[in-house]
Amino acid sequence: MTFILASNNQGKFREFKEILEPLGITVVPQAIAGVDFEVNETGDTFEENAYLKASTISQYTNFPAIADDSGLCVDALGGAPGVRSARFGGGKDWTDRQKYEYLLEKLAGESDRHAKFVCSICCVMPGGRVLRASGECPGTILTAPAGDGGFGYDPVFAPEGYAQSFAELGDDIKNRLSHRGRALEALRAELERSGLC
Ligand code: IMP
Repeated sequence: MTFILASNNQGKFREFKEILEPLGITVVPQAIAGVDFEVNETGDTFEENAYLKASTISQYTNFPAIADDSGLCVDALGGAPGVRSARFGGGKDWTDRQKYEYLLEKLAGESDRHAKFVCSICCVMPGGRVLRASGECPGTILTAPAGDGGFGYDPVFAPEGYAQSFAELGDDIKNRLSHRGRALEALRAELERSGLC
């Protein structure tokens, strides 16, 4: 089975591929499928945005599409940046590094470092059939960035039970513990139940 990934994020593409390929599922980035636009994330929740992206790309390509909407929810910031994680601070024009440095500035002197990554995945088939799955990964925000793996906020996030950041722990450990790894694991069960893999 082949899914078009409704994203241009290389980090997400790598993780989807690593986790879904062993299940016999091929993931094709949307640009390779001729999609030259990004779907606007106008929803208020991760679930709404994941559906918006997957349904738009499935309708446009007439192929099964898969999307995730994900983000970092920080307790001391009342759950921000949440669904706005990609647009935090200066928005889409800022680099990942500018965004996590801005987060560290906002948390300067803050003793409550609890946070969680959240991921909502949605698959939409031509004809409109929808499958959903979600996953969370609790952890803490470090006081300084560490490591050069992963993407996004990985250098400043340590998953529960670890002192190192996701960017230091490497892909294998991240995929096992992460919000996306957990959501994809739940999706696998959903695909099997539906007879799609
Ligand atoms: P969106 O799902 O395209 O709205 O983007 C979510 C944003 O959340 C990304 O651009 C990253 O900044 C952040 N994010 C989501 N998942 C991860 C992750 O696994 N590691 C680090 N940052 C992430």
